[in-house]
Amino acid sequence: MNAPVVIFADTPGWHSRRLRRAFAARGVAARRVPLRDCGFDAAAPHGLRIPGFARRLPRAAFVRGISAGSLEEIVLRLEVLHALKSLGVPVYNPPRALELAVNKGMTAFVLARAGVPTPPAWTVAEPAAARRCAIAECARGHELVLKPVFGAQGAGLRRIAAPHELPPPEAVGGVYHLQRYVGPGADGGEDYRVLVVNGAARAAMTRRGRGWIHNVAQGARCRPAPDDPLLHEYAERAAAALGLDYAGVDLIRDRDGRLTVLEVNGIPAWRGLQSQTAQDIAQILADDLLARHLPPARRCA
Ligand SMILES: Nc1ncnc2c1ncn2[C@@H]1O[C@H](COP(=O)(O)OP(=O)(O)OP(=O)(O)O)[C@@H](O)[C@H]1O
Ligand SMILES: [Mg+2]
Repeated sequence: MNAPVVIFADTPGWHSRRLRRAFAARGVAARRVPLRDCGFDAAAPHGLRIPGFARRLPRAAFVRGISAGSLEEIVLRLEVLHALKSLGVPVYNPPRALELAVNKGMTAFVLARAGVPTPPAWTVAEPAAARRCAIAECARGHELVLKPVFGAQGAGLRRIAAPHELPPPEAVGGVYHLQRYVGPGADGGEDYRVLVVNGAARAAMTRRGRGWIHNVAQGARCRPAPDDPLLHEYAERAAAALGLDYAGVDLIRDRDGRLTVLEVNGIPAWRGLQSQTAQDIAQILADDLLARHLPPARRCA
């Protein structure tokens, strides 16, 4: 009997339920395990502590959540993913790509180096450097968006229209991640989320929130996305630049109507997107993982 696929998710929620069903549809068992319960265990034959996998390793790992925590906790969880990969267990998304995507400073750096359109961004620890950046940008007539480096779901974002609006370092965990504010475009305030799987844009939607933050988690409404090939092209290039097997890419149109990539999610939620497409997104993701890492020939081995 083959070992199941492990789905790292803290709660038995909508996403992991749909993923388990999608794997079951292909005759593959999947078990949900909170990554926060995992670690290293010298007594285990494979050296890892993964509840439910004491003797045998999972045959693949689908990362659905790393969950917030101290730096030590987050590093332990990422290292468990790296260790699994080093033992030959496919990790979806790959750990290094997740590290690049979860850190907004690194994402901005990688996108810019890859020539993917993205607003200018600065990530600094010194308050004086953050102030200099704000002084320069405000002098050019721009506002900035201050974001938690590991932020998600639109939480903790602030618009900075003048240098004195910058908070003290303790309010940002000692690191200022500043991105030029580029909204609202000609479309009066909405943005786009594109799901890229195995290098191809598979679904997309428009998000329109009440204010300038268009996250579904912040109450934004989902609508079909415009049929703009650039939306797909930029999203595909962004996912590729970070080395992600699948990604939720956020894009927005600036005041001149130009599309730009705001950020890339390596652990995207897709409930909003599912409301805008007839395709079963969980099935697309499960099939992609299986096709890449567990082709039928390997499934009965
Ligand atoms: N530079 C910007 N210019 C204009 N609007 C922005 C900018 N940055 C963020 N926003 C708005 O705020 C929303 C949340 O920002 P962003 O996606 O960077 O953060 P997040 O908290 O990581 O969200 P996610 O849940 O996608 O990880 C964006 O979807 C967009 O609507
Ligand atoms: Mg986002």
